[in-house]
Amino acid sequence: PGGRAVFFPSLSLLTMVSVATSVPTACARWCPPNSSCVNSTACRCLPGFSASSGEVFTSPSDSCDDINECAPPAAVSCGKNAECLNTDRGYHCICTPGYELASGAPTFRNESENTCQDVDECQQKLRICKSHSICINTQGSYICQCLPGFKLNPRDPKLCTDVNECTPGSNPCHNSTHCFNLVGRYECRCRPGWKPIPGDPSSPKDIVCEGSNGTHTIQAE
Ligand SMILES: *[C@@H]1O[C@H](CO)[C@@H](O)[C@H](O)[C@H]1NC(C)=O
Ligand SMILES: *[C@@H]1O[C@H](CO)[C@@H](O)[C@H](O)[C@H]1NC(C)=O
Ligand SMILES: *[C@@H]1O[C@H](CO)[C@@H](O)[C@H](O)[C@H]1NC(C)=O
Ligand SMILES: *[C@@H]1O[C@H](CO)[C@@H](O)[C@H](O)[C@H]1NC(C)=O
Ligand SMILES: *[C@@H]1O[C@H](CO)[C@@H](O)[C@H](O)[C@H]1NC(C)=O
Repeated sequence: PGGRAVFFPSLSLLTMVSVATSVPTACARWCPPNSSCVNSTACRCLPGFSASSGEVFTSPSDSCDDINECAPPAAVSCGKNAECLNTDRGYHCICTPGYELASGAPTFRNESENTCQDVDECQQKLRICKSHSICINTQGSYICQCLPGFKLNPRDPKLCTDVNECTPGSNPCHNSTHCFNLVGRYECRCRPGWKPIPGDPSSPKDIVCEGSNGTHTIQAE
């Protein structure tokens, strides 16, 4: 009593001899690239490839070519704001630039999985528009709209540059004043020695001035 019997199961080690059970099957030696051999007279194209006579073929002159799933006759439909990309072995659908899947995944399989939605570039990349502009999201894109007094730089559509309002020919100031271009705005200031004509101009830009030759008031036209 109290004794305990401990049993050690004896391990019978089986030598795992790799017994080739497969009966050597004859194999066509001419199977072209992207195919595997079926038997002595036929080859099968790898998935995503097809021969002119089909997936399995018996003509040594046939070849396995990538199936373009994106082209007719059986073109995959990826749906709106998306495109089909044929790949070496298959295809995938991707959202067109400016759109992305709701899940954030990079690719999808077909129209029924299409959740391509507009990317709000203005939220995603703050400062995408540089100074003196505001970002406006659009379907599939965005624009940088210049603040008043600035215009888009023709060389960089994200950059707004100051408009020179005082450009000869478009000078907005009364000719009794001088126009001063400032960043984003301009000012009309009386000619040296001249004074504003009393009264309230509707805006400092509408200021009209008068001068004096000592005895007489001189007014610009
Ligand atoms: C198909 O065959 C070509 C030519 O041998 C090879 O370059 C390519 O990698 C193959 N593609 C696949 C998916 O096996
Ligand atoms: C080889 O496989 C093809 C396709 O499966 C079959 O039609 C043909 O009879 C087979 N030939 C031999 C010799 O087994
Ligand atoms: C789209 O893909 C899903 C999942 O892979 C599949 O179940 C469905 O049949 C496909 N629909 C079409 C129209 O190909
Ligand atoms: C000022 O202008 C008036 C009118 O044009 C003229 O009669 C007067 O001589 C001028 N005075 C001086 C000091 O130039
Ligand atoms: C102001 O401009 C008018 C034409 O718009 C011109 O007749 C006049 O001589 C100008 N006055 C001055 C002081 O330049």
